[in-house]
Amino acid sequence: MAEFTRGWARREFIIGALACSACGPQADGAGGKIVAGLSVPLKEASTLPIGTAITAADLADAQLVRLIKENFSQLTPASEMKMGVVINDQGKLNFGAAERLASFASDNDMRLHGHTLVWYRVEPSFFLGLADDPKKFRAEYLRYIDKFLRRFKGRVSGWDVVNEPISADGTGLRDSVWSRTLGKERYIALAFKQAAASDPNAVAFINEYGLEARPAKRLAYMRLIERLLKKDVPIGGVGTQTHISVDLPERAVADTLRDLASFGLPVHVSELDITLGRGAAATAGKLKLQARRARQVVEAYMQLPSKQRYAITLWGVRDRDSWLRMPPYDPDSDRPLAFDDKGQPKPMLSALAAALKGAS
Ligand code: G3I
Repeated sequence: MAEFTRGWARREFIIGALACSACGPQADGAGGKIVAGLSVPLKEASTLPIGTAITAADLADAQLVRLIKENFSQLTPASEMKMGVVINDQGKLNFGAAERLASFASDNDMRLHGHTLVWYRVEPSFFLGLADDPKKFRAEYLRYIDKFLRRFKGRVSGWDVVNEPISADGTGLRDSVWSRTLGKERYIALAFKQAAASDPNAVAFINEYGLEARPAKRLAYMRLIERLLKKDVPIGGVGTQTHISVDLPERAVADTLRDLASFGLPVHVSELDITLGRGAAATAGKLKLQARRARQVVEAYMQLPSKQRYAITLWGVRDRDSWLRMPPYDPDSDRPLAFDDKGQPKPMLSALAAALKGAS
């Protein structure tokens, strides 16, 4: 904690500066040129854990399994560790799908990142049914976290303990059954304290999106983390999902990573994808810009102190596997990932590999 307090003055400066920049447009930096790509598989380009999202259904897709085994050293279940999949209406826990992905990770010497224990978007009926009995609700909330973490203890390197706590517009905190029943920030503190007690060796992350494009949201996120850390809430790591666009201002990712790293905690680029824009054609120019953004993410991340580099996780493998190709998004258009619909490498993959190799 001493280490953390040392950062106070610097962080106050950052938060102050961010408060100003949140009011106006971000300056564009000088764009770099695309470095000629390398064909090495991602995970061989660096010792940094390189992750991808995976679903149980993916295990039946031979090409996808091959690409995952060749390129990635860490896995995040896209759905199988979420409350909606794990707990039933009677409060019974079923870890079957999570165990299948945990076995795949272990069989292939990959780290497993747990995603996510508490999320405003998942409010199982079991908990909704307890909302009028806060005491019982709290007991079951803590029991859920405790049982989950004890079951996977030693098999999960880090957990997204609380996901997306900031309101979409960045002006405050999310409203959910968790915040309404346990308290606006208390549900977050309770979750982290239980996680630390149940698996003290797993890095306990808070995780958020939209921090690069919205300085106001990044500011709100940093202020929340600061308030919680001041109350000795055991947040162990800071996640930035990094769902970004090719049109993001050049410095936005580097500024975000610098700001989030000011807490002195591990930082996880937890869900990287780079949309070309809704309905945008995958022109050579767009794909080249996507590759440049990918290189910039890696170069900025590798500037962090090594003890703060947890992992870079891509949110999927092939474009067609992306959430951005699911309803309500366009099922045919977006190209946000490193491999195309046929599983062929894109300039983004080469740029990621070259930047990782260059930084190693
Ligand atoms: O597995 C079932 C399948 O059996 C069924 O036939 C099918 C049709 O109903 O649904 C399948 O489950 C879907 C699951 O993705 C597959 O992995 C769920 O309906 C669908 O809701 C789920 O969407 C996931 C979404 O989070 C909601 O949980 C996406 O895959 C996943 O990429 C997305 O990831 C989120 C992160 O957790 C948080 N950050 C934002 C990110 C994108 O929304």
